[in-house]
Amino acid sequence: MKINYANFVISSPDVSKCPALDKPEYAFIGRSNVGKSSLINMLTGRKKLAKISSTPGKTMLINHFKINDQWYLVDLPGYGFAKRSKTERAKWQKMIHKYILNRPNMLTLFLLVDIRIEPQKIDLDFIEWLGMSNIPFVITFTKSDKLKLNQIETNLKKYKNKLLESWEELPPIVVTSSSTSLGRDEVLNLIEKTNKVF
Ligand code: GTP
Ligand code: MG
Repeated sequence: MKINYANFVISSPDVSKCPALDKPEYAFIGRSNVGKSSLINMLTGRKKLAKISSTPGKTMLINHFKINDQWYLVDLPGYGFAKRSKTERAKWQKMIHKYILNRPNMLTLFLLVDIRIEPQKIDLDFIEWLGMSNIPFVITFTKSDKLKLNQIETNLKKYKNKLLESWEELPPIVVTSSSTSLGRDEVLNLIEKTNKVF
């Protein structure tokens, strides 16, 4: 799929302030610093579209970007930011759960995971919640440029085995890099296919 236009639409503090539900959208979530904003920039080919934060976990806003005037990419605030207070974490959870459960036009959630690290409880718990809530999601590994091919294979296998401890079937998985654009076509093809059924 070709991306002709990509423009920032709105930052919303709450799902009720998000754009109308008339276009399909795809949201990106994962730990703070995992590469959500970078991936959106890589997919759109616009280096500065989504802000790459040097101070993670600062703002808790839902950012909508309109693509080709037809669908949205949504940059969500990250989780697992150590310096966040308990109150802020609870606020994050409430806002994110509300967003995920109240956007019928959000067709696929891309859950980003750093390919370099061991499976983390915080991600596995979130995956568990997505499964129980029947939310279609794709596990999207990031920063693959930081590893050699055989390390990627090893870590992928480890992650899959971990998931298979509690899941009968694996969710879709893609491996990406915002530096090399690995996974770009795969993600955009998936979006293109999904757009057709909206
Ligand atoms: P928050 O918005 O704070 O939750 O972070 P984020 O998930 O949006 O991460 P962001 O895109 O801001 O990237 C965090 C850091 O990781 C930045 O320094 C990026 O340059 C770097 N980064 C992101 N993706 C990649 C990647 O695929 N490869 C490499 N080498 N670095 C990456
Ligand atoms: Mg970000």
